[in-house]
Amino acid sequence: MSNLLIKNGDIVTASARYTADILCKDGKIAAIAKDLDAPADVEVYDASGKYVFPGFIDPHTHVYLPFMGTYAKDDYETATVAALCGGTTTLIDFCIPGRDEEPLSAIETWRNQAEGKAASDYTWHMAVTRFDEEVETQLREIVSMGIPSFKVFLAYKGALGVDDGELYQTMKLAKELGVIVTAHCENADMVAELQKDLIAAGNTGPQWHEPSRPVEVEAEGTRHLCSMSELTGAHCYVVHLSCERALKEAVEAKLRGVNVYVESLIQHLLLDHTYAERPDFEGANFVMSPPLREKSNQRALWDGFRHGLVTTLGSDHAPFDTEQKRMGKDDFTLIPNGIPSLEDRVRMFYTHGVETGRINLHRFVYAASTAAAKIFGLFPNKGTIQLGSDADLVVYDPNHRDKISAATHHMNIDYNPFEDFPVHGRCDLVTVRGNVQVRQGEFVGEKGIGKFLKRQPTHF
Ligand code: URP
Ligand code: ZN
Ligand code: ZN
Repeated sequence: MSNLLIKNGDIVTASARYTADILCKDGKIAAIAKDLDAPADVEVYDASGKYVFPGFIDPHTHVYLPFMGTYAKDDYETATVAALCGGTTTLIDFCIPGRDEEPLSAIETWRNQAEGKAASDYTWHMAVTRFDEEVETQLREIVSMGIPSFKVFLAYKGALGVDDGELYQTMKLAKELGVIVTAHCENADMVAELQKDLIAAGNTGPQWHEPSRPVEVEAEGTRHLCSMSELTGAHCYVVHLSCERALKEAVEAKLRGVNVYVESLIQHLLLDHTYAERPDFEGANFVMSPPLREKSNQRALWDGFRHGLVTTLGSDHAPFDTEQKRMGKDDFTLIPNGIPSLEDRVRMFYTHGVETGRINLHRFVYAASTAAAKIFGLFPNKGTIQLGSDADLVVYDPNHRDKISAATHHMNIDYNPFEDFPVHGRCDLVTVRGNVQVRQGEFVGEKGIGKFLKRQPTHF
């Protein structure tokens, strides 16, 4: 591990902004001050004219994902390299057992996928896809292993989804253990009925995906999760909230005192349902759940970020290539759901959020890094720049100009949903615990140095 002195950077955290030098030693931030002298054996990096942000945290990725009869395309090597090139230094992935599988065996599978391959740090949310006595025993053990966040799917009927009894039991256990419950909020029965009706009427193309999961379905799922949270006292977190109707349900619950956090995605902030209407089945590349919405919802989400009603920005990175998407060429319900965005989440949020004046720099850092660290028990090792924190840093050149392209991205996927979108800024230097992993937007570091991050329950 090299020691590093970053000079004259414009340091920006969720709550402060100042110009200073940062000394990284033995993986930690060892000093922050003006005009620090460089000790011997230290690389000096001049960050004049550039921002220095805390390493960004993606609270919602699917690197290893067996789903809808296939597997997402990235692995821990390709995904973490892509993440780092885009400034993300920690991933919170999902460990998702099949309904018949034991949670501990799924942990073993995910560990085998990640260990020795990840170039960034990582942890998992533990998905609960069945609840019985054996699962409960194993969940207790998993929490004590340092995984204090659960995930439930209120969607995906007959596959990953849980019923209300299982949801209630999961949330009761979460309350007891101080674990937060993250949830995919769509009413699964409503989706199943709408899908049946649409297919029966001959509406088989990708453009029918949104009408099969309209905003009512998501608002209903969101309200449902919040009611369970109210009943059990467990803290909850709505993943990938996409529309104003659902946001209003979460805000109403907040006003009733429910401990609910909201995450939105860069896809829902920048893309709308017309992308899924593109001809020649290209629309399938824009099929995800909840679906891309009517454009008017985007304003509500950006306002939500600005006012702190939406707390975190995720990517929900779930890459399925053009070939895999063709599994649903005659029936949109069989198109693997997911849109890649792990690499571009941060730079697109900066470009289309900060540079347009929709959010300020501090909100940007909070939503893309600090908030996830605080909610999921990683703070202050991750998510900020202070003495003793992990030296996960991003030196960002805001003057760099670029365009998004599948031809140059690092994700293992043959298209980019933001193709040709302008980008302001580049990650000129990215460190993970002091290790320089990226220079000038390209990976230069070491694969396999990524560590599993043990976390503590914080939601009692
Ligand atoms: O369409 C999506 N979001 N795919 C990934 C799985 C999930 O629901 O998060
Ligand atoms: Zn989901
Ligand atoms: Zn997801």
